[in-house]
Amino acid sequence: MAVLDHISSQEAMALENKYGAQNYHPLPVVLSRGEGVHVWDLEGKKYYDFLSAYSSVNQGHCHPKIVEAMNKQAQTLTLTSRAFYNDMLGKYEKFITNYFGFDKVLPINTGAEAVETALKVCRKWAYEVKGIDTNKAKIIVCKNNFHGRTTTIVSFSNDPVARKNFGPFTDGFIKIEYDNLVALEETLESSSEIAGFLVEPIQGEAGVYVPSEGYLAKAKALCKKYNVLFIADEVQTGIARTGCMLAVDHEEVKPDILILGKALSGGVYPVSAVLADNEIMNVIRPGNHGSTFGGNPVAAAVAIAALTVVKDEKLTENAERLGKIFREELNKFIETSDLVNQVRGKGLLNAIVINDDEDSDTAWNICLQLRDNGLLAKPTHGNIIRFAPPLVMNEEQLMDCISIITKTISEYKK
Ligand SMILES: Cc1ncc(COP(=O)(O)O)c(C=O)c1O
Repeated sequence: MAVLDHISSQEAMALENKYGAQNYHPLPVVLSRGEGVHVWDLEGKKYYDFLSAYSSVNQGHCHPKIVEAMNKQAQTLTLTSRAFYNDMLGKYEKFITNYFGFDKVLPINTGAEAVETALKVCRKWAYEVKGIDTNKAKIIVCKNNFHGRTTTIVSFSNDPVARKNFGPFTDGFIKIEYDNLVALEETLESSSEIAGFLVEPIQGEAGVYVPSEGYLAKAKALCKKYNVLFIADEVQTGIARTGCMLAVDHEEVKPDILILGKALSGGVYPVSAVLADNEIMNVIRPGNHGSTFGGNPVAAAVAIAALTVVKDEKLTENAERLGKIFREELNKFIETSDLVNQVRGKGLLNAIVINDDEDSDTAWNICLQLRDNGLLAKPTHGNIIRFAPPLVMNEEQLMDCISIITKTISEYKK
């Protein structure tokens, strides 16, 4: 078979299964086209995308303005490395720092790389500004976190599947309960060697856990009191997903370090970023950190276009409004259903909790039925399904999706 020959879905899946490392367990559907809130499989069947590549495609699939920016830049200059200046990076750095209100950005590619970058910046700040003794700095993280897949990041994960046989791990992390201010304050008080507190404003992969109102603002205040950096991982929750530009905006919190990824490119290209003010970011000097592709001209052009679309198309407002409708309608449905216990979330980052064991396959089976009925979603756990459509969805499309979801669950038989 020539590489460009047309293949069927069965053939495409067989190729991935035979030649690809088996590090994912995809829902059996093979997508070959996307536009706005829709994707199409190889046989031409149309679906609503209710995952948005884990909240990357907030601006909708193949947004014409983002694709145009990428194409234009790709025909002009793609990569210089940071060995030289390029004419796009500075413009992008000015744009994104103004957009989010920080002095400086460190441009990088993926979410995990951005988290790694933030941890390094935080540690360096701890030694060079806060004055913690060399190699003693500790960073507080939360149980059930998800921050990516590198060795350091899985060092503080409590997911056994992500960790097993990947040790030895990186030291210097203290794990506390999420949404627990007492645990945070006790830990902050317990040591003068704490450098930072890394937190997801909503725990996405864990199953869309929204913390109690006031948690983020109080956590930030505690960090300030103990001279510890508040590091917000907004890779999944950022860029309008939760009905504010950042999820921390719901509580008017400005993180000391902000981590962005995914929708920073509208899902067309890997672009991530770490933002901080000068007194923190200036600890990074030439040679301390870098990436060949970080801050490349295509990434810069794409991110400017992607962030412009978010504001021009009022995606925060749309996510807030449609999210409320989604939860209201699903709450009405839950009253009539034995199979769903709860809907929770903010904006258009939501999840339903299925009335079954955490390790059951009910959520997976429901997702297969949803697929057959024209909507793609994926469980985060055996009994939790995340619902995160592109934010360009309109109300009519949302109502159509709600009817697919409620009908599928009503007709589902164990
Ligand atoms: C909160 C959070 N941080 C970091 C990451 C890692 O991003 P990436 O998969 O681009 O490395 C993710 C991915 O889902 C995430 O949800």
